[in-house]
Amino acid sequence: MAKFQRHVFVCTNERGKDDPRGCCKGRDADAVAEAFKEKLYARGFKRIVRPNKAGCLDQCAQGCVVVVYPDAVWYGHVTPADVDEIIESHIVGGKPVARLVIPDEQLTGLDPQSAPASSRGGKA
Ligand code: FES
Repeated sequence: MAKFQRHVFVCTNERGKDDPRGCCKGRDADAVAEAFKEKLYARGFKRIVRPNKAGCLDQCAQGCVVVVYPDAVWYGHVTPADVDEIIESHIVGGKPVARLVIPDEQLTGLDPQSAPASSRGGKA
């Protein structure tokens, strides 16, 4: 069995209504996840590109959040209407949909240069 070429992770996490960040579940995430599954399979990507529901990806205010690996392209404010464009432009054409990409400076991950050496494979 070969490896998948890509994974498309769709956050479907739900937060309480009092959370100021909101959540992906409240922004149609289940429909986004279902659209990726249906449309990727319809395009013949089953066992090539894997759509996965994910827990919180820690970009909650940007929901619905989708991340494509190994490309490490993060999308925010994705709706079901955006799925065809992401598949056509990014998955088929290799060109991320710029209008939906979350800029690196808005992501909550730690800059690799600031990360502990142990998290960089032990290299200082
Ligand atoms: S709830 Fe989706 S990123 Fe946190």
